[in-house]
Amino acid sequence: MKITVVGAGAVGATTADNIIRRELAEEVVLLDIKEGVSEGKSLDMYQTAALLGFNTRPVGSTNDYEKTKGSDVVVITSGLPRKPGMTREELIGINAGIVKGVTENILKYSPKAIIIVVSNPMDTMTYLALKESGINKKRLIGMGGALDSARFKTYLALAMDVSPLDIHGMVIGGHGDTTMIPLTRLATYNGIPVSRFLSPEQLEKVAADTMVGGATLTKLIGTSAWYAPGAATLLLVESIVRNQKRIVPCSVYLNGEYGQKDICMGVPVVLGRGGWEKVINLRLSDAEKAAFEKSAEAVRSMNGALTL
Ligand code: NAI
Repeated sequence: MKITVVGAGAVGATTADNIIRRELAEEVVLLDIKEGVSEGKSLDMYQTAALLGFNTRPVGSTNDYEKTKGSDVVVITSGLPRKPGMTREELIGINAGIVKGVTENILKYSPKAIIIVVSNPMDTMTYLALKESGINKKRLIGMGGALDSARFKTYLALAMDVSPLDIHGMVIGGHGDTTMIPLTRLATYNGIPVSRFLSPEQLEKVAADTMVGGATLTKLIGTSAWYAPGAATLLLVESIVRNQKRIVPCSVYLNGEYGQKDICMGVPVVLGRGGWEKVINLRLSDAEKAAFEKSAEAVRSMNGALTL
């Protein structure tokens, strides 16, 4: 198993670090355009092996795609992150060019790779990568819902003063402050609906906090977050590499599922060695369906800004 992470910034490096600690691959390549950064970070990470006890050695590469040859899974995190006050959507201009170029280079050396897109605006970048590459839709997956769901579970756990491990919940729809849909109706604490523990007002606050979860952190830190994004990306990579068949909300190309066509958006999918293997069809309420429709409109209008 060989995994490449493109972009050795905050999210890319954290993702690679998580992957090597779990020994998910024999080879992990970290690639960045910035001279020396991926090599330096890889060596720094490898120096934790003697302390933490793992055997996978990460290899850095300054824009040399030859080193990524034969990768089974590739994670794309290259691109600008948002600054305080920015929306993910404002990143489209610069990141579209980066994601397009990276996807081309990756497929030249790893034509069979499963590609996970993290760069924002993620739903549109996933759509772009799919349209430009023409690869099988099952091999292109956008990471967003896994992170948003982790934030949702965390806010629920904080509101209930319980462990996030006992909370189940999902966020679907677009990966944007106004487009994501925390499914409060379906969230549970050890199988019991969270509405038994929290008032409608408390649930509304949890949903609202979840939706601006990324922006809250960007305001506090001064740039976009990386620990939870890196862990959420690991969830996707691990389920694929170990063929775990976890159900994870991911941005995938819809062709009629959830009433949408020709768009990449967050829906629950089964992740295994084939990439996203199938969409899980939740029976949404009318209000949830309407929210999904509205979210799709916003994602579609963002896709309209692409020159394909
Ligand atoms: P960062 O600025 O720390 O790292 C980005 C890295 O990409 C830099 O090291 C840069 O040199 C590299 N890069 C730029 N152009 C490149 C190219 N053509 N080839 C190779 N490397 C290139 O940014 P950070 O915080 O790691 O975020 C990365 C992206 O992920 C951003 O677009 C951010 O908005 C997005 N993001 C998405 C999340 C999601 O849930 N989908 C969560 C968090 C961040």
